[in-house]
Amino acid sequence: MKTAITELFNIEHPIIQGGMHYVGFAELAAAVSNAGGLGTITGLTQKTPADLANEIAKCNDMTDKPFAVNLTFLPTVNAPDYPGYIDAIIKGGVRIVETAGRSPEQYMPAMKDAGIKVIHKCTSVRHSLKAQNIGCDAVSVDGFECGGHPGEDDIPNMILLPRAADELEIPFVASGGMADARSLVAAISMGAEGMNMGTRFIATKEAPVHDNVKAAIVAASELDTRLVMRPLRNTERVLTNDAVERILKKEQELGKNIQFEDIIEEVAGVYPKIMMEGEMEIGAWSCGMVAGLIHDIPTCKELIDRIMIEAEDIITSRLASKLSA
Ligand SMILES: Cc1cc2nc3c(=O)[nH]c(=O)nc-3n(C[C@H](O)[C@H](O)[C@H](O)COP(=O)(O)O)c2cc1C
Repeated sequence: MKTAITELFNIEHPIIQGGMHYVGFAELAAAVSNAGGLGTITGLTQKTPADLANEIAKCNDMTDKPFAVNLTFLPTVNAPDYPGYIDAIIKGGVRIVETAGRSPEQYMPAMKDAGIKVIHKCTSVRHSLKAQNIGCDAVSVDGFECGGHPGEDDIPNMILLPRAADELEIPFVASGGMADARSLVAAISMGAEGMNMGTRFIATKEAPVHDNVKAAIVAASELDTRLVMRPLRNTERVLTNDAVERILKKEQELGKNIQFEDIIEEVAGVYPKIMMEGEMEIGAWSCGMVAGLIHDIPTCKELIDRIMIEAEDIITSRLASKLSA
């Protein structure tokens, strides 16, 4: 399939693996890219720019195909060394960056001067337009269904994607709730040039996370995610567990007075224990409603091949047959 996104990133299939904290290591990024999609290393999971440089070198050893690095711009006072991370990306020869969180405006000149293509992930039309205005090459439009941070507008992709299509001139991919060929064809029907998947790629053979995480996704239904941290205006969609229910109870009890410190035990620094050691009840971890559509743990190639074969079938048989009646 050829779209503006396959052309922009020089990839075979319009399928991107979004950056994921403690999931997006070289093993997963390379597996997705080798399967013809666009794999992504999560920049901030690497504690220093030097660590990121090593992870990029590892990925370069594992694939000759293009891959991306995710840079999430956090709303913190003590910002990570973003210029250092960008330097590691440029020196490592990576030519695609997925930005997320705050606007990447401040860092656009450095990335553009190095010939880097920037795809900014955002959850609203107004932020997508801002990304277009500051020179981003593409946008990943992340609907309310998504795993991770859906923003505060709560607009699902059935509305958000056509709205983005009506307003944007740069290409965009659909993100949030994407799992299979039906997702891809629907996304393209609504104006997207491809799709970005997070949760679906965790439940793959190559995702370098504990088997408990993959099993939890396969076992979950679409009813099993919760929104936490809404009172802090830092909403995150997570898979429910004991820690998440504790957070929600505190949010209810403390109301507007809740502070980050009240839930710090359940959210800060829990990712390594969950993703690496499989301690599933210890804290909150991002997961999309799309878990309800995930029933197996294929290789990335099996997953992507299946999506592309079935997408062609949907377009040429199911959709075309509706016209010939
Ligand atoms: C476990 C997990 C960790 C994530 N970490 C990040 C991150 O560090 N930075 C980021 O920009 N997005 C992050 N995301 C969001 C994904 O890149 C992607 O936008 C999202 O998962 C899409 O929704 P889906 O899960 O329904 O496919 C994370 C998602 C998950 C499930």
